[in-house]
Amino acid sequence: MIASTRRPPSPETLALLETRRSVAAAGLQAPGPDAGQTQRLLTIAARVPDHAMLTPWRFIFIEGAARAEIGARLAQAYRDHNGHMPEEKREKFAAIMGRLFPAPLAVVVVSRPVAGSAIPAFEQELSAGAVCMNLLTGAAAMGFDGIWVTGWAATHQAALTILGVGVGERVAGILHIGSAKEAPADRPRPDVAALTTRWSPSEP
Ligand SMILES: Cc1cc2nc3c(=O)[nH]c(=O)nc-3n(C[C@H](O)[C@H](O)[C@H](O)COP(=O)(O)O)c2cc1C
Repeated sequence: MIASTRRPPSPETLALLETRRSVAAAGLQAPGPDAGQTQRLLTIAARVPDHAMLTPWRFIFIEGAARAEIGARLAQAYRDHNGHMPEEKREKFAAIMGRLFPAPLAVVVVSRPVAGSAIPAFEQELSAGAVCMNLLTGAAAMGFDGIWVTGWAATHQAALTILGVGVGERVAGILHIGSAKEAPADRPRPDVAALTTRWSPSEP
């Protein structure tokens, strides 16, 4: 008999994938991953399909005292760029920016497609998305909770400058990672059967 390299099934991994659920950043608190866990998490995050091994992504960490500082800068930038908004509304959103990083760790996944590569930028961006998902799944496997968000802080040029996102780069996601204050209820999940067709040669 030829020896098989088939990996044994992992019921624990399957259960995690079948039950993982995002937790809003405001619902996350300490503890977050320690230095060793964070390093391991990054190694897991970087273990994604990457056509032609371009590594078209990088990471920015926001943790500790930097969270309040960057929040204050984002809040001010929000005010500066939304002078046209009614003050009450502007202040409401500026306050949200000020509290944008409540979780112990936020990882900004920066997509940086290699220009002029034979690999389409879209494929490179998908690889950055895979990095985000691996971070979320890896964090869940370590017993942490998290969420993948974007929004104003991930898209407005003023915010990108504050984050340190350069020309030719985009934020694929901000991953907030910590421990859930409360276990989240599930949300409705897609009906996969309704989303699936089976190709047949008789169809155009
Ligand atoms: C690229 C991307 C950006 C997202 N941005 C936000 C966001 O800014 N705010 C938000 O509440 N959810 C955002 N979401 C949705 C959440 O990450 C998540 O899908 C949702 O809370 C449902 O969680 P679950 O299906 O993982 O349990 C985004 C999702 C993706 C893939």
